[in-house]
Amino acid sequence: MCGIIGYIGEKETVPILIDGLKRMEYRGYDSAGLAVIEEEGLICEKTVGKITDLEALLKKRKFLSTVGIAHTRWATHGEPSDFNAHPHIDCKGEIAVVHNGIIENYMALRELLERKGHKFRTQTDTEVLAHLIEEYYQGDLAEATRVALTQVEGTYGIAVLCLHNPDQIVAARKGSPLVIGKGMGEQIVASDIAALIRYTNQVVYLEDGELAVITREGFTISTTEKVEIPPKFQEISWSLDMIEKGGYPHFMLKEIFEQPTTLRNAIRGRLNEEEGTARLNGLRLYYDDLPHIRRIIFTACGTSWHAALAGEYMIEDLVHTPVEVEYASEFRYRSPIIDEGTVVFVISQSGETADTLAAMREAKRKGATTLGICNVVGSTIARETDAGVYIHAGPEIGVASTKAFTSQLMVLGLITLMLGRMRDLSAEQGREIVKAIKRIPDQVERILNKDKEVKKIASAFAHSNNFLYLGRSYNFPVALEGALKLKEISYVHAEGYPAAEMKHGPIALIDKNMPVVVIAIKDSVYDKVLSNIEEVKARKGVVIAIATEGDERIKRMVDHIFYVPKTMEFLTPLLTVIPLQLLAYHIAVLRGCHVDQPRNLAKSVTVE
Ligand code: G6P
Repeated sequence: MCGIIGYIGEKETVPILIDGLKRMEYRGYDSAGLAVIEEEGLICEKTVGKITDLEALLKKRKFLSTVGIAHTRWATHGEPSDFNAHPHIDCKGEIAVVHNGIIENYMALRELLERKGHKFRTQTDTEVLAHLIEEYYQGDLAEATRVALTQVEGTYGIAVLCLHNPDQIVAARKGSPLVIGKGMGEQIVASDIAALIRYTNQVVYLEDGELAVITREGFTISTTEKVEIPPKFQEISWSLDMIEKGGYPHFMLKEIFEQPTTLRNAIRGRLNEEEGTARLNGLRLYYDDLPHIRRIIFTACGTSWHAALAGEYMIEDLVHTPVEVEYASEFRYRSPIIDEGTVVFVISQSGETADTLAAMREAKRKGATTLGICNVVGSTIARETDAGVYIHAGPEIGVASTKAFTSQLMVLGLITLMLGRMRDLSAEQGREIVKAIKRIPDQVERILNKDKEVKKIASAFAHSNNFLYLGRSYNFPVALEGALKLKEISYVHAEGYPAAEMKHGPIALIDKNMPVVVIAIKDSVYDKVLSNIEEVKARKGVVIAIATEGDERIKRMVDHIFYVPKTMEFLTPLLTVIPLQLLAYHIAVLRGCHVDQPRNLAKSVTVE
């Protein structure tokens, strides 16, 4: 979803802005643009399409500017078009604004400004910001921006540039992330650290309601009420290598293959074999309260929601605490009951998803303790939850989440172990679990080594237009996740279902053209799943089974089989999802789809 970058320093700004935009491409966008200050004035270039289209546009002249702002847009108000792309400029073409978020009262503001004589050129909500700042501008860009923002309802992360203030960029945030990186004689502001990590690892995250005046020498931060805020610097540990492809054709494939490493990172230093438990430092302040949790609510969106669902099975099974799993977008608008002893776990890879953030704030308003499970360090959810656990998966660039999902599952497994040991699990059971957890990264590696087998299955089904994914118990969330992966990147219709529920509808779809992916591992529901396979076969469905190594019986029943190693039942999703990620990846490649930036999707959905 939309990306912002602004640069001020000694170097030529255009290549830096373009590089920053490219590093945010993974977020999903439909148009791109930039504004810089050149000798002859403020130059704004923008176009629908890819960043390479913008680069082509920029070739027509030479740029020397050392200050500028740029943007990748993901349309909300107004179709993707050259006009609607950011930056947006005021009537005189002297003020340029890039914006992430949504201005909810833009219609009223637009009418007001039009009555005052402002001429609008686009259908966007953002354009009102450029005109509003123009309306209040009397030589001080920061002051004009501050006053303009008092009129605005909605969410924003903005960067503003003005021809008459060529030595500054003004940035402000409410609801959409912005981070400022400090370099030597240069500063970069961006909505995503991937855009600035090449230049600095010293960053400050703007908080909601803060405005920054950024110059070549540094920056000052104050609230919209003009209270100065001392910057809180953080050091970013992600390296440039981590956000590059490392020889893989796509980020998604790189991230799938990184999973043995990311899973090792998720458990590093967190397991205590002797006591058969896990230790999660991020939750240490709550250790005394954890045994008294009476009810857990998980809230999340997308893939993170699937991880939450698996978490529900884990915790109810091994901790015996009631769990509910809520779509964040639903949770925030109903009247969720939060009583004493309810803890809300907020799961988000990015830590910026608008609905998840709002659900977290709603839970806090109702008095719940909120605990985060996030990947991006310093993200809004990570900062605003009472405490939390990082999954340490490193930057996830592919829009379809893979390594973050397995790391979320792993952290949920660790939380389950820790809570279980505070309740009924014995030390012996705990030690068994620790051993099983430690084996997982190697087992994932073994599965990845058989990628060719998955590729073969993928080529047999690359042209199928409908898929059904079935699983039961712990592997029902995996069926949902497998179907989601396929939909997201190959645009093939796929449905995930609890295997037995198939009888109540989807069975009507089954015929010889319908591949049915069944997760049929040797667990407590194995025999039940075999019956479901029989039901599919009786309707001439084609079955692709994910089964447990050594299971010869199932081999005779299905058309294609992929074996995964044996582990404890609650950890099986960590293994069974890997072939499904690979299957989706290979089908998408075979169908010629844009794997890392699938159409219409955004990596981080920062609007509701
Ligand atoms: C978007 C992404 C998904 C992700 C979901 C939730 O839809 O495309 O991959 O699962 O948002 O994102 P979060 O960052 O909160 O986990």
